[in-house]
Amino acid sequence: MKDVAKRLIRWQQRHGRHDLPWQRTDDPYRVWLSEIMLQQTQVATVIPYYLRFLERLPTLQALAAAPADEVMSLWSGLGYYARARNLHACARTVVAGHEGRFPRDPAAIAALPGIGRSTANAIADFCFGAHEPILDGNVKRVLCRCFGIEGFPGIPAIEKQLWQLAADLLPAQDVGVYIQAQMDLGATLCTRGKPRCAECPLADACVAHRDGRTEELPQAKPRRTLPEREATLLALRDGNSVLLEQRPPQGIWGGLLSLPELSEGADPRHQAEGLGCRALSVTALPPLVHTFTHFRLTLKPLLIEAERLPHAAEEGLHWLSLAQVQSAPLPAPIRQVLKSLA
Ligand code: ADE
Repeated sequence: MKDVAKRLIRWQQRHGRHDLPWQRTDDPYRVWLSEIMLQQTQVATVIPYYLRFLERLPTLQALAAAPADEVMSLWSGLGYYARARNLHACARTVVAGHEGRFPRDPAAIAALPGIGRSTANAIADFCFGAHEPILDGNVKRVLCRCFGIEGFPGIPAIEKQLWQLAADLLPAQDVGVYIQAQMDLGATLCTRGKPRCAECPLADACVAHRDGRTEELPQAKPRRTLPEREATLLALRDGNSVLLEQRPPQGIWGGLLSLPELSEGADPRHQAEGLGCRALSVTALPPLVHTFTHFRLTLKPLLIEAERLPHAAEEGLHWLSLAQVQSAPLPAPIRQVLKSLA
């Protein structure tokens, strides 16, 4: 396992990034500012903001003394503005409570506004020669793939396992180079989509690469369970024709044609009459499930062999041949039901 760190350090020295504006400094103000800007934003976007910010507010003291409006305007366009508010609060806390000097202890850094454990450790490693693991989104992805860790990495139990692994992998020396390597590998090769495994120094040790599972790891956030709804549909068939009904403009499938829905508690034969038919037979077809953004709908179609009664055509009701149905504006699951009739 120690081999992983060795390989990453070697890779970083050859292929990693060395000239980013926040590298080659151990000024905690500059490192901290870069880490906060880089939390949800890519390097290329951050660079001009970072340089402009430091030009206007070159020290922690200058930031602490700046009006909130100025801080927000220097941040505007970077998004996630809580970062800027916390940044300002953090500078004021350090000036007021730490004699203007960034604390060196990782736990003390992590107690400051807007700084989580991973960012605190990165600052301590880069600036104060600490020996602490980091675990941001990039590192989680690399570890989940390399070690084949199942489960969504946001779950506390998985996160705990990942912190332990990150600590176990930490090299005895060159911790700063090593954590920069982890960041750079995740940002440049082991990306979420289309990782460039052919160039990766860990490819021959990587479980996800070996098993062809880089698409599946790390696992996505589990979807919350959706509310369930049910609808019974009437597939009224007279010979080769079926009865379709236009949906109201609002609500699901607004304005599309669909099969008429059985009213709550109604008798299908009775409702068929209301639709201008005499039901000859009623057969349940296999149900199908359709997932919408906010609920899951189980459709239970009833095939009703019917005879059209001499009846005035009703608005919104259309008898279509099974051939015409193919080019009608239908929701996908309804098209599927009708296909089974053809
Ligand atoms: N993302 C987070 N921290 C970073 C750093 N120090 N260099 C490059 N990308 C990063």
